[in-house]
Amino acid sequence: MPVDAKSPRKLRNNRAALTHKVRYALTHPRRVTQYLRRAGRDAWLRLKHPDHVGYYRAVMASDTRRNPEAAVGSQTHERWLALGQMQFDYLIEHGLRPEHRMLDIGCGNLRGGWRFISHLDTGNYYGIDISPDILMAAKKTLVERRLQDKLPHLTITGDLTLDFLPSDHFDVIHAHSVFSHSPLEVVDECLANVGRVLTDTGFFDFTFDRTEGTEHQVLHEDFYYRTETLLALARKHGLHARLMEDWEERPHGQSKMRVSRTPLAGEAV
Ligand SMILES: C[S@@+](CC[C@H](N)C(=O)[O-])C[C@H]1O[C@@H](n2cnc3c(N)ncnc32)[C@H](O)[C@@H]1O
Repeated sequence: MPVDAKSPRKLRNNRAALTHKVRYALTHPRRVTQYLRRAGRDAWLRLKHPDHVGYYRAVMASDTRRNPEAAVGSQTHERWLALGQMQFDYLIEHGLRPEHRMLDIGCGNLRGGWRFISHLDTGNYYGIDISPDILMAAKKTLVERRLQDKLPHLTITGDLTLDFLPSDHFDVIHAHSVFSHSPLEVVDECLANVGRVLTDTGFFDFTFDRTEGTEHQVLHEDFYYRTETLLALARKHGLHARLMEDWEERPHGQSKMRVSRTPLAGEAV
């Protein structure tokens, strides 16, 4: 996503509106075919998989077959490396230490994950994803980076109830570019359950595509939320929540929110 995706005008865009689509088609005529192909796939996969997780798993299967790095959103290997580095640097600046236990929700092919695995003590990284195809790509990344001895957990999941994980366990939970592809009920399910597996001093960081206009979605793949919606959802589940202002200055199109069981520094009440 381009760096100016958080400009005031872009933050008010409704990409689902007909006027936006027509304007976009006129200014980017070459992308029309690509969009029509995506819309056709969306209709077909939605017919085969009426539930969101089944649908998105099929999207990932189709994208991963072509290119696993592009499937997690990086069009070049350099971007894949840079995006992983950005995730890693941020959490290091926020105190991620080797002895911490980390859960990476929607870990993909370990774009950020391989750096976390390398940094954390053996066995302290837990990656989950809905896509078996991207988890196979994750294992390849693990081998390429020679991180077998770190013995990370890489596990398939069908939902975000997190019911197979222990209570009060993770110091850091992370979901990068996952809620940007999730309808509100998936975000809700995650926020309803994440508090149980966090430690008292732990936090959960997630990125999301922010809009300051009408909440909307593009096909069934990309979802745009207002900050207040997600803050309210987190609070409904008894969590503390805040938008991470220091992420806003990074060259990344999404915003980041942090939630925890206990009050956060800098949280507005
Ligand atoms: C854009 S990729 C990002 C991957 C990784 N977090 C990164 O930054 O490289 C989104 C990932 O989230 C996974 N995903 C989407 N919805 C999910 C869900 N409800 N639960 C777990 N994983 C999900 C996808 O399969 C995909 O691997």
